[in-house]
Amino acid sequence: MFISRSAAETEEFGEQLAARLSAGDVLALCGELGSGKTQLVKGIARSLGAQDVTSPTFTIVHEYSGGRLPLYHFDFYRLENSGALRGIDFDEYLSATGICVIEWADKFPGAIPSRATCVRLRICADGSRGIEVDPERQTSS
Ligand SMILES: Nc1ncnc2c1ncn2[C@@H]1O[C@H](COP(=O)(O)OP(=O)(O)OP(=O)(O)O)[C@@H](O)[C@H]1O
Ligand SMILES: [Mg+2]
Repeated sequence: MFISRSAAETEEFGEQLAARLSAGDVLALCGELGSGKTQLVKGIARSLGAQDVTSPTFTIVHEYSGGRLPLYHFDFYRLENSGALRGIDFDEYLSATGICVIEWADKFPGAIPSRATCVRLRICADGSRGIEVDPERQTSS
């Protein structure tokens, strides 16, 4: 598990993670409120060189363009049911030539494709953040 001691370190972790991503990849982010999911996405966007082109009003998906690959950033936190995903053509994003990153992915596990890489964040007792990439795979190896 990586230990991040600041928001900047979490962002940097996101940058390093993004360097290994290619078109069609999906990251499922799970972790409590304030654990650093959005911070991690900032690093991913920075590494890709992509800018948020979404209007500032709340939407379920933020699109970042102009970078190495388009980035589609979802946040399931405020979604009441997975039916709303049909309304935004979630599956179209998953099959698009870009990277999908989903905050609160564990809310609707059925909507997450099996190829997704799980990233788990937690707030440690000392306030640092623990970040694990694909914890399932790590424990089974
Ligand atoms: N090591 C750290 N990594 C990430 N964020 C940290 C760290 N230490 C402190 N913070 C602070 O914690 C907050 C993390 O917020 P962030 O919005 O990224 O969390 P989140 O997981 O997306 O929360 P939410 O579930 O509400 O979407 C920020 O205010 C950030 O400055
Ligand atoms: Mg967030």
